[in-house]
Amino acid sequence: MKEKLAQIRDKAIQKLNDASDLKTLEELRVEFLGKKGELTGILKGMGALSKEERPVIGQLANEVRADIEGKLEAMKTALAAKAQEAKLKAETIDVTMPGNMPELGHRHPMTQVIDNIKNIFIGMGYEIAEGPEVETAYYNFEALNIPKDHPARDEQDTFYVNGIGDFLLRTQTSPMQVRVMENKKPPIRIIAPGRVYRADEVDATHSPIFHQLEGLVIDKGITMGDLKGALAEFAKGLFGEDTKVRFRPHHFPFTEPSAEMDASCFACGGKGCRVCKDSGWIEVLGCGMVHPKVLEMCGIDSKVYSGFAFGMGLERVAMQKYAISDLRLLFENDTRFLKQF
Ligand code: DAH
Repeated sequence: MKEKLAQIRDKAIQKLNDASDLKTLEELRVEFLGKKGELTGILKGMGALSKEERPVIGQLANEVRADIEGKLEAMKTALAAKAQEAKLKAETIDVTMPGNMPELGHRHPMTQVIDNIKNIFIGMGYEIAEGPEVETAYYNFEALNIPKDHPARDEQDTFYVNGIGDFLLRTQTSPMQVRVMENKKPPIRIIAPGRVYRADEVDATHSPIFHQLEGLVIDKGITMGDLKGALAEFAKGLFGEDTKVRFRPHHFPFTEPSAEMDASCFACGGKGCRVCKDSGWIEVLGCGMVHPKVLEMCGIDSKVYSGFAFGMGLERVAMQKYAISDLRLLFENDTRFLKQF
């Protein structure tokens, strides 16, 4: 019996050693340890043994079982490791294969226009000024020579904070003129881009939130000639070297005299096309010589200093420059639209 057990163990160990895959291991497990296996057969036959032999053989049989089980586990681990190694070997990675490129974002066309305009003025020695979008009625209107009953207040339908009163969302970037003049001594040469708000219905050319850019130059002896020179240069920078400008008389409460500036159409050169609605010109900005009253209210002596100011709507510039027919496209952020710029 002892010999028989030793034989079983040797045979099992030998066969397990030769096994080359997990399936064979399983077959061997059934063969040696299964219900119908040889070892089980011996254990079943123990009843026929004498009282003295039974525990000895029983113990030996358990040892044999433990040996076979141990070997089985060891082989399982070894074969699994081998299989894994083979799998990794078969799996080569082609590092030269092109990857999936993450899609690059785009600068929004409004950002591009604002950066473009900023750079033109920075090139002419202007500084950038920034100020609050929640303004006081004083900066947005009074200090700009727009008193309470002035019709310009109605034209710029205002969003008030807490009902009609002192606080409002600025309707224009012009209050930045006042803030800069209060805080800086001439010479002053700034632009102030930013968001402005008006209670307008949304349509193809209106939005309650839009962008403006304000410009202000104050020094001794500044004339309308300086205004024309600076703005003509700006128009060339924005629309191209061949751009011409013309000034039409206009009225703004904070400038005197006031004008509107048109630029020759960059798309057709002035012949007339879709972009300029066949007029050959596109309206670009409002401007004028800073009103002496405004200078005085800001504590600047209007007998010593003079200056010019200008303001433009930036959505309109973007729409002209990129031939965008509907303002809403600039706010909807449809990436199919934005990708074009
Ligand atoms: N603030 C004016 C507007 O919203 C634009 C403007 C016109 C600004 C003439 C100026 C200026 O500084 O001189 O329509």
